[in-house]
Amino acid sequence: MTTTSDSSQQSIRETRPSLERDCMTLSRHVLQHLQSFASDAQDLSALMNRIALAGKLISRHLSRAGLMEGVLGFTGEVNVQGESVKKMDVYANDVFIAVFEQSGLVCRLASEEMDKPYYIPENCPIGRYTLLYDPIDGSSNTDTNLSLGSIFAIRRQEGDDIDGTAQDLLAPGRKQIGAGYILYGPSTMLVYTLGRGVHSFTLDPSLGEFILTEENIQMPEHGSIYSVNEGNFWQWDEPIREYVRYVHRTEGYTARYSGAMVSDIHRVLLQGGVFLYPGTRQKPEGKLRLLYESAPLAYIIEQAGGRATTGHTNILDVVPTKLHQRTPLIIGSKQDVAKVESFIQNGH
Ligand code: AHG
Ligand code: MN
Ligand code: MN
Repeated sequence: MTTTSDSSQQSIRETRPSLERDCMTLSRHVLQHLQSFASDAQDLSALMNRIALAGKLISRHLSRAGLMEGVLGFTGEVNVQGESVKKMDVYANDVFIAVFEQSGLVCRLASEEMDKPYYIPENCPIGRYTLLYDPIDGSSNTDTNLSLGSIFAIRRQEGDDIDGTAQDLLAPGRKQIGAGYILYGPSTMLVYTLGRGVHSFTLDPSLGEFILTEENIQMPEHGSIYSVNEGNFWQWDEPIREYVRYVHRTEGYTARYSGAMVSDIHRVLLQGGVFLYPGTRQKPEGKLRLLYESAPLAYIIEQAGGRATTGHTNILDVVPTKLHQRTPLIIGSKQDVAKVESFIQNGH
């Protein structure tokens, strides 16, 4: 027998699907998707909610950057990567730390901008997760009001390495239990996976909430986009040059490159194609960082039906030997990644 309250619940879902959609916030989605209200699921939901807060704070800061003093430009420092630091990099790095203070969730954070992991001692007795992140991806776009991103990966903390050696971070990307990115574009989007598909959310500024946009995103097996900085042609190995020459003389390819891999890979996720940042003769490891950039994005793309490789090894199988390790990256639709691989491994 249907009770009055059952039928009224049913009727809300049936008669107001838009209301149902508006209420599908990120934290609710995590619980619903994990099909659990157990403490692990509650932790991951709370963790994603804190990452969302970081995204909202950074998004707000970026949207007002041209109106405030001291927000744009360089700090004058050089980070552990040997790259000039922007004020926005420092702000966003601090935001991720601030949102996890007093959270009881994350004991340790490791970021592209910090030489060593950062500990939040008050969380450590119970904080069972480690967060790895690239606070601002595409920094060179910061001062020209172009797309930027943040990238994150969640790992279960193993061992107690408060002495700063962080050996348990030196594990392959398969150890990630979650990953995602925030894209600061015309709207702010958050894309995440917890190993059960890839889901995208759009920030509704009037609500201050990320609301579900698309669930279980599956990327095309092939796409027309190739996304690579061709200014580096002169310093590539011959197989990558040959692949790009092949693209130039073949109908059906189009180039897109924004300077922020989050936006380039988001486009490839939705429309198919391939993004490459190969190594060079002088720097065989290339530019991108395994733990903060390549591995999280590889997890997302694999979950969406694509692939990511160094050209020889699946990115998620690469075992890091140091925290800030770099890796060549070829990522995107299965067929397009296979094509690049074939040039690297077979020369055609
Ligand atoms: P970051 O801003 O975190 O240093 O990362 C920038 C990365 C990536 O997002 C982008 O695709 C690439 O570096 C751009 O580098 P080039 O200017 O060498 O193409
Ligand atoms: Mn980056
Ligand atoms: Mn960065």
